[in-house]
Amino acid sequence: MITKFDKLKMELKERPKIWLVTGVAGFIGSSLLEQLLLLNQKVIGIDNFSTGHIKNLEEVEDVVGQTLWSNFTFYEADIRDLSSCKLVCSGVDFVLHQAALGSVPRSIDDPIASNETNVSGFLNMLIAAKDARVKSFTYAASSSTYGDHPGLPKVEDVIGNPLSPYAVTKYVNELYASVFHRTYGFDSCGLRYFNVFGRRQDPNGAYAAVIPKWIQSILNNEEVYINGDGETSRDFCYVANAVQANLLAATYGISGSEVYNVALSDQTSLNELYGFLAEELGSQGVNEIRPPTYRDFRKGDVRHSRADISKISRDLGYRPTHSIRQGLSEAIDWYVENGKN
Ligand SMILES: NC(=O)c1ccc[n+]([C@@H]2O[C@H](COP(=O)([O-])OP(=O)(O)OC[C@H]3O[C@@H](n4cnc5c(N)ncnc54)[C@H](O)[C@@H]3O)[C@@H](O)[C@H]2O)c1
Repeated sequence: MITKFDKLKMELKERPKIWLVTGVAGFIGSSLLEQLLLLNQKVIGIDNFSTGHIKNLEEVEDVVGQTLWSNFTFYEADIRDLSSCKLVCSGVDFVLHQAALGSVPRSIDDPIASNETNVSGFLNMLIAAKDARVKSFTYAASSSTYGDHPGLPKVEDVIGNPLSPYAVTKYVNELYASVFHRTYGFDSCGLRYFNVFGRRQDPNGAYAAVIPKWIQSILNNEEVYINGDGETSRDFCYVANAVQANLLAATYGISGSEVYNVALSDQTSLNELYGFLAEELGSQGVNEIRPPTYRDFRKGDVRHSRADISKISRDLGYRPTHSIRQGLSEAIDWYVENGKN
């Protein structure tokens, strides 16, 4: 069956637009860049390389080839600087705002840094995009906004109290987006990502996400730690699904300030995830995998998470193309290549 996303891709190829991707050297930003360039779009990107890497951009250049790569303009700049935001927004049709300092533990260690980029930087981007009269503003929100609300699945309009400074920053994004609609008539769409994973997700550093971090530890024969009893669960979402959600949201013509869950509506425990990774790595010839080590629960983590995706499916025609297993098997060779110390 031809999906709305299939149709959109055909339309975009025929009529190229100008896109701005903030955080373009990061994991999700570079995945958006790759898809947009493959669709013959013009892309402007901004990144300060605080957590993103030039090699992510080089990888995209390799995938798309020189001709399409020439449709990309990159600014090494910081969204905490309003004039940089104004510069990159000028003449843009669609903004996909991804730049932020991710990670709950990072925000607990340094809430001021998270606030400066995730709140002040976000506000700069809103102002710059509004003043540039862009056609749409789509931004990376987060499932952390559900906070301590125990209900499952997570439905967009039922949230709890934030459990970390990071969650506060992401919730504040939604509040600002809503106020910008009410006070200035500026429309926007927040995409609440649920544990996105895939190629180019950084396996290094203290704040790495669970999938790349575990794979790297297994490959290097290091201890894999599970925080808690391993029954903590997440709705792991392959990055191709998040890319689809962004393109659908940006081009839909949303009026108001909407938020949508982006996930699979599937729940995988950390113990199950460990088993999946062991199987995928086994298929890559990595067979000596020791059992994980269990340790204390981590502060700020929610126990269970699973999205209700009926709103985004109904409104935007979102149809996830990859289950967690399909995503893992598509990305595993990248993880293996990039995970060895
Ligand atoms: N990966 C996930 O599971 C997940 C889940 C929920 C929300 N998000 C959100 O999605 C977005 C992208 O996340 P990601 O996983 O790709 O992380 P990432 O760290 O790989 O990408 C973020 C990018 O933003 C850039 N950046 C940070 N501060 C900046 C600044 N001040 N100016 C310019 N660039 C800056 C970084 O250098 C990096 O390239 C973030 O907003 C994150 O909060 C991600």
